Amino acid sequence: MKHDIPPELVELLRANPQSAALTGAGVSAESGIPTFRDAQTGLWARFDPLELATPQAYERDPDLVWRWYRWRRELIGQAEPNPGHRALASLEGLLDEFTLITQNVDGFHRAAGSRRLLELHGNINRTVCSRDRTPMSGFGEADSAPRCGQCGAPGRPDVVWFGEALPMDALQDAFEAARSCELFFSIGTSTAVEPAASLPFVALEAGATLVEINPERTALSDDAHHVITGMAGAVLPALVSEAFGQRV
Ligand code: OAD
Repeated sequence: MKHDIPPELVELLRANPQSAALTGAGVSAESGIPTFRDAQTGLWARFDPLELATPQAYERDPDLVWRWYRWRRELIGQAEPNPGHRALASLEGLLDEFTLITQNVDGFHRAAGSRRLLELHGNINRTVCSRDRTPMSGFGEADSAPRCGQCGAPGRPDVVWFGEALPMDALQDAFEAARSCELFFSIGTSTAVEPAASLPFVALEAGATLVEINPERTALSDDAHHVITGMAGAVLPALVSEAFGQRV
């Protein structure tokens, strides 16, 4: 399907605006990674977040939580970044100021080449000690959580669970990028989970042009200047090609 990119957006991009983008699970959907809230296929349609993605769940049954994350890590390990990730990495090279903020833990943005990247929810490919967050090497493919070599506490994925604080530096940088940009993209996210969900609104209030890329409408759609209805893996390469004549 061909995507029409609004001419005003093409013009704005060519003027090299200070830009930022927030991505969510939708950006990795075309890599075969399930989203969270899509009604039929989303992870939260099949699993209960309270049983799997909270510190309490981990305390109750670390091995169950470990196995669920191991399964997700395996899915990610068998998949790869898609043209949407690659188009965002190209944008970083094409614009003088482009900050990519992601809620995804799959590491695909970095794998696709993005470097000015803020991973707000951590990264599933890292394991840390659950007691003091010391990095642990290896994942342990056993059914139980690996033990920290120093203190013996079970390891956990280095991701943010519900009820936990986000990494402070990344969060501050994300809000600063939202406040100071002229163009803000919200891509493949339902904008349902705070504090990330506030970022597009912060950008909007600071006067940025807000662009949403998503096949569905979200809580943001009514406020966005441009809503491009479609898949990130098709829309983003079309946008880079239209504005800069570059194939992704
Ligand atoms: P959601 O599952 O809430 O939303 C995914 C969004 O992607 C939906 O709006 C879809 O319509 C859209 N989408 C699906 N396929 C797409 C595609 N090919 N291209 C573009 N968009 C597409 O995922 P997030 O918004 O990322 O947090 O969820 C935010 C946080 O909630 C996650 O980081 C996770 C979750 O609970 C934690 O685990 C802490």
